[in-house]
Amino acid sequence: MDYSDPKRKPHFLNKVLVAAVLTVMCILVLKQTPCHKEISPFSIREPGVTHVLVTGGAGYIGSHAVLRLLKDSYRVTIVDNLSRGNIGAIKVLQERFPGPGRLQFIYADLGDAKAVKRVFAENAIDAVMHFAAVAYVGESTLEPLRYYHNITSNTLTVLEAMAAHDVKTLIYSSTCATYGEPEKMPITEETPQFPINPYGKAKKMAEDIILDFSKKSNMAVMILRYFNVIGSDPEGRLGEAPRPELREHGRISGACFDAALGIIPGLKVKGTDYETPDGTCIRDYIDVTDLVDAHVKALDKAEPNKVGIYNVGTGKGRSVREFVEACKQATGVDIKVDYLSRRPGDYAEVYSNPSKINRELNWTAKHTDLLESLRVAWRWQKEHRNGYGSPLAMAS
Ligand SMILES: NC(=O)c1ccc[n+]([C@@H]2O[C@H](COP(=O)([O-])OP(=O)(O)OC[C@H]3O[C@@H](n4cnc5c(N)ncnc54)[C@H](O)[C@@H]3O)[C@@H](O)[C@H]2O)c1
Ligand SMILES: *[C@@H]1O[C@H](CO)[C@@H](O)[C@H](O)[C@H]1NC(C)=O
Ligand SMILES: *[C@@H]1O[C@H](CO)[C@@H](O)[C@H](O)[C@H]1NC(C)=O
Ligand SMILES: *[C@@H]1O[C@H](CO)[C@@H](O)[C@H](O)[C@H]1NC(C)=O
Repeated sequence: MDYSDPKRKPHFLNKVLVAAVLTVMCILVLKQTPCHKEISPFSIREPGVTHVLVTGGAGYIGSHAVLRLLKDSYRVTIVDNLSRGNIGAIKVLQERFPGPGRLQFIYADLGDAKAVKRVFAENAIDAVMHFAAVAYVGESTLEPLRYYHNITSNTLTVLEAMAAHDVKTLIYSSTCATYGEPEKMPITEETPQFPINPYGKAKKMAEDIILDFSKKSNMAVMILRYFNVIGSDPEGRLGEAPRPELREHGRISGACFDAALGIIPGLKVKGTDYETPDGTCIRDYIDVTDLVDAHVKALDKAEPNKVGIYNVGTGKGRSVREFVEACKQATGVDIKVDYLSRRPGDYAEVYSNPSKINRELNWTAKHTDLLESLRVAWRWQKEHRNGYGSPLAMAS
């Protein structure tokens, strides 16, 4: 019997032809993919390398944290939309750590949930240090929505992206402003939190969201409540350079340097009738070098299913008057000082009890000489009159 089918031959040939075409197409596709899209070292896990996502890494504290992380051999991805930070700070960091898989900068807005999800989808992130925020008490009383949006809502976005991509470790930048105006000093982590301005409230809400979520997940969470941050990189690579338009809301250290440089006519001390020894507010000034050390220690000690909440301060309060004297001495300029009435949203006295972080993370503030911290910061300020400004502005 002949089972051969006259139609079978061309049918078989067709099949071979289709298979051949498909094979060639597959080879072409496979060949093209690696040629056109190089695999980023940031997208793969490498044993022994911890990849930290630093939000707000172009800002004052974030940039100092990135410098320290890179020195300690971490892999770093910065996400920042430069709304308040400086591309100049990122350039300094990139020039210092140009190697592959060391530092990448992603220009993105944390208010854009899709962009944030993409950052997590495309990068193999191990831990997040979330610095990005708006951070001026005075401004928060004038523009509360800006604060709830850019602090509370953006933290939720980051947390959702972390959950979706199974990133387990979060180091969160909180603030002593979450305590409000406690009756007892110094402030411990058990001091009740009753924030009195939108900045403090927005940060407290963000803390609550993180804490609630951590109960239902196995996240490793460290919440650091900073006191007043001053100083800059002792080697003079980075400094504090807020936008000119933010100067009016500015912090005392910035105002001190601006006055010494003649950018503003003098210092305005707001409030001399507080219930403090010299009538001016009392604050706990923590050097940024010590602060970033606390972050690295917190990252190192972070454990799944555990939450650590720590005050980060020196434990010693200083009055604004003392600060102004130190500022005059550090800059060598006899700055003009006006004593004015109180500013809304300020508290009289704030200083920390840092014994918990000392005990549990073996952290202590080492740069506690106010004058020395200001001298270091002044050196950078003097050499960078325009902050990280454009090269054109620096040349003029
Ligand atoms: N400076 C202090 O004394 C102090 C005290 C306590 C807590 N903190 C906290 O520390 C953190 C860092 O403060 P800082 O002094 O370095 O402020 P900063 O303004 O210098 O830095 C914040 C950075 O976040 C970025 N950013 C803001 N909104 C963003 C967004 N939607 N998307 C992407 N990037 C965004 C800004 O561009 C900026 O680079 C903040 O969370 C702040 O609340 C600061
Ligand atoms: C940065 O993000 C904010 C939202 O948080 C947005 O309103 C603003 O336009 C962004 N700025 C830049 C320069 O992209
Ligand atoms: C913060 O949020 C507001 C919207 O409420 C937006 O207009 C602003 O540009 C945002 N970003 C910053 C850095 O303030
Ligand atoms: C604590 O830190 C100090 C340095 O500040 C170090 O000498 C000491 O070994 C540390 N102790 C522990 C238990 O890690």
